[in-house]
Amino acid sequence: MPRLEEITPDNLAAAVEIKVSLAQEAFVAPVVASLAEAYASRQTAWPRLVYDGDRAVAFVMANFDPGHEIEAFRCGVWRLNVAAAEQGKGYGSFAVRALCEEARRRGHRRVTVLWEPGEGGPEGFYLRLGFKRTGEVLFGETVGELAL
Ligand SMILES: CC(C)(COP(=O)(O)OP(=O)(O)OC[C@H]1O[C@@H](n2cnc3c(N)ncnc32)[C@H](O)[C@@H]1OP(=O)(O)O)[C@@H](O)C(=O)NCCC(=O)NCCS
Repeated sequence: MPRLEEITPDNLAAAVEIKVSLAQEAFVAPVVASLAEAYASRQTAWPRLVYDGDRAVAFVMANFDPGHEIEAFRCGVWRLNVAAAEQGKGYGSFAVRALCEEARRRGHRRVTVLWEPGEGGPEGFYLRLGFKRTGEVLFGETVGELAL
């Protein structure tokens, strides 16, 4: 059973080592960039590592910012990177479900995600998890939402 861990000085290197495949790099920022953003947005960012036993297999980051002027940014999946060799094993869906649990705990009723449309992208993954397109496009990305 996978679990979430906070980012600490001890697991930082393992977090940065999580790499998606070359072809997927167009769809998500590298973990190191997300951690820099998490540092700069530490009031709202919620970065976590997914572990299976002693293996760090994925990185997920939420943004919880209930007062944000753009509704799609109030509670959402900000980043999700599953290591290339660990994809297709349920870790991505575990990470999204765990993020949704945290969102619910904080009183949110809706989780959003923005994805880059395109071949090899995560659209099918989010639709499979029950996200629906809202019809909005923000910064060229498709907006999806899931009611909690
Ligand atoms: C997209 C991503 C997060 C999926 O993670 P994963 O751990 O491989 O996904 P899971 O094993 O939990 O898959 C859950 C379901 O979604 C399906 N799925 C996974 N990726 C898919 C894709 N790209 N398109 C369509 N379906 C997909 C799986 O087949 C599985 O279906 P099932 O329930 O019928 O078996 C992962 O491929 C990844 O890190 N991609 C690169 C980065 C990226 O695009 N991140 C999202 C940024 S918004």
